[in-house]
Formats: sequence, structure tokens, C-alpha cells
Amino acid sequence: MTSKSSFDSNCMTLTRFVLAEQRKVPTATGDLSQLLNSIQTAVKAVSSAVRKAGIANMYGIAGNTNVQGEEVKKLDVLSNELFINMLTSSFTTSLLVSEENKNAIEVETEKRGKYVVCFDPLDGSSNIDCLVSVGSIFGIYKKLDEVAGSDISNALQPGKNLVAAGYALYGSATMIVLSIGHGVNGFTYDPAIGEFILTERNMRVPEKGNIYSINEGNESTWGSTIKEYIRSKKYPNNGKPYSARYVGSMVADVHRTIKYGGIFLYPSTKSNPNGKLRLLYECIPMAYIIKEAGGLASNGKIDILDIIPESIHQRSPIFLGSKEDVQEVLQFVKSKAES
Ligand code: AHG
Ligand code: MN
Ligand code: MN
Repeated sequence: MTSKSSFDSNCMTLTRFVLAEQRKVPTATGDLSQLLNSIQTAVKAVSSAVRKAGIANMYGIAGNTNVQGEEVKKLDVLSNELFINMLTSSFTTSLLVSEENKNAIEVETEKRGKYVVCFDPLDGSSNIDCLVSVGSIFGIYKKLDEVAGSDISNALQPGKNLVAAGYALYGSATMIVLSIGHGVNGFTYDPAIGEFILTERNMRVPEKGNIYSINEGNESTWGSTIKEYIRSKKYPNNGKPYSARYVGSMVADVHRTIKYGGIFLYPSTKSNPNGKLRLLYECIPMAYIIKEAGGLASNGKIDILDIIPESIHQRSPIFLGSKEDVQEVLQFVKSKAES
């Protein structure tokens, strides 16, 4: 019998969801659940820091130094430390790749487990100081059988090998969007109970949208195909022009694309022939989520998830979003190559 109370006494938390998924796989050891739990803890702490909880204690009365005279830690540095500390102490990982660390991090032998995690602890850092949405991104692989856990080849797997991927968005609410390979689910943080609650079951990217998202200030550095494509969105032969939306935090731009549809592009530019965004911890995890939600993600030639990475901080051009919109830009690229 269901009561009329507004308090849900049986809510689906992220932890509960992950455990239920784990139970569907009889051979599962629980390691992935443990790993996801450690990410959840890092995200809660990052969210609290982004929202400036405890700010009075950190800053004292004024200024950038705290009461001990130490400079207050930058949010991206703090987020990185949180991710690394939570992941290494979960006893489930052997190799970590972070945007903030030049080299891959080898977990100490006693703490090693079978997973490899690539992450961007705080994405959209140029938006931190003006309080616009930022996020965290992560991709999880199983270590390869044939090499030691600390071997770099474990982190250079193509995205199609991912076991799970997700992002946290620190927006007007904090949300974790996660895929463990069977669709995409969204969990909103409820600060009252300190839990992520399943609020968006089986998220799907609309087949087609009416929004394009690109840093238009770079127009003079794009190739002619992208110029033509964007022009066709602004001056359509028929129908209404697309709206332009660009937050400049990939997580926020991708989340909007999943919710409302449309296309997000970071193409190659004259100075950055491979675009700006990083393959391992930006493009690949986001491509995995978008594809699991029924959309498409390409580098202009091939599916992002088919790229075999060569180095951990490698960049890639990216076009992702609604199936029809991405297919259209790929058609532009193709017809240009043929002409
Ligand atoms: P990060 O803050 O982790 O360095 O990443 C910023 C990225 C991404 O979030 C965003 O889509 C892109 O940079 C914006 O780049 P431009 O400022 O060149 O448009
Ligand atoms: Mn980033
Ligand atoms: Mn970052």
C-alpha cells in the first residue's frame, strides 16, 4: 500500500541502483560498486566545495588566505586530490589518468584492483570564478589481462571497451549521469539526505534538436565545411534557424544536448588541428554516454569510441548530439571531401 506522505520511504538512491545492477551479474565481485561509491564520495565533496560550503571557515573574514595564512586551495586542485584519494583508497583501481597530472598515476601495489579510471576532476574551470556550471567526467575500463595493472596500455584502450562512464554536473542542482552499458540514468543530489536519487530513468537524446553549440569566436579558424554547416543552421533554406547555446563547460553543454537535443561541436582549428578537447577523459566518456542515450559522437571521420588512443592527453575534434544533427554534419564533411 502506498501512503500519501510526501516523504519517499523507498527511494532509488544511486548506491541502491548500482547494487541492484550488480546483482543482475551473478559473477560480479562488487568491485565496480565500490569504485562507483568512491566516485560518488568525491563528487559530493567537490559539489560542496563548488557551492562554497564552509566558506567562512576557509576564508576567515576576507581575502584569499585562510586563518593559518595558507592560500585557499584552487577548486580544480582540490577536486583532483579528492578524486585521486577516493579512487586509490577504494582498493579497486590500478591506474588513474587525470587531466591535472602529466603522467598516469600508478596505484601502490597493496591497494591495486582491476579497474583503470580516466577523469577530468573539474571541467569548465574558466567558469569557476563567475559561478557558471562546472562538472566532473570519468571513464572506467577493466585492466588488460596480458599486462601489469600499472602498464600505460591499460589507459590507451578504445572507448568501446569502457565498462562504465559518467559525469557530475554542478549546476543549479548537482546531478550524476551514469551508464554501466545499459542505457543512461540521471541521479539528482538531495542535500537533505546526502544521497543521489534516481530522477531521470533511461535518458534519451532527442533524434533531432534545434540548438547548435560551438565557440563561435573561433569561426575564422574553422575549416570551410564547419563554416558552411553552421551557416546553414543560421540561414536555413526553410524553417526556423537553430538557437545558439554555448556554456563553455563541456559537461553543461553535453547535458543540455542530452535533455533538449541538438549538436555540440569542438572542431579542429588552425592552431589546434586536433581540436581542444581531450580524448581519454572528455571525448570518450561523453561519447559513451551520448551513444548509450541513442545519440552519436564522431571525430568527423570515425566514431569516437573506435579511436585507439596513442597518448594519455591526446586531443580530438568532436561532434556529438542528436543522431540526425550529427549525421547531417558528417554528410557535410563527406560531400566536401568528395568535391
Ligand atoms: P577544462 O576546464 O577541464 O580545462 O576544460 C574546458 C573545456 C570544456 O569544458 C569546454 O567545452 C571547452 O574547454 C571550452 O573551450 P573554449 O573556451 O575554447 O570554447
Ligand atoms: Mn575539461
Ligand atoms: Mn579540468
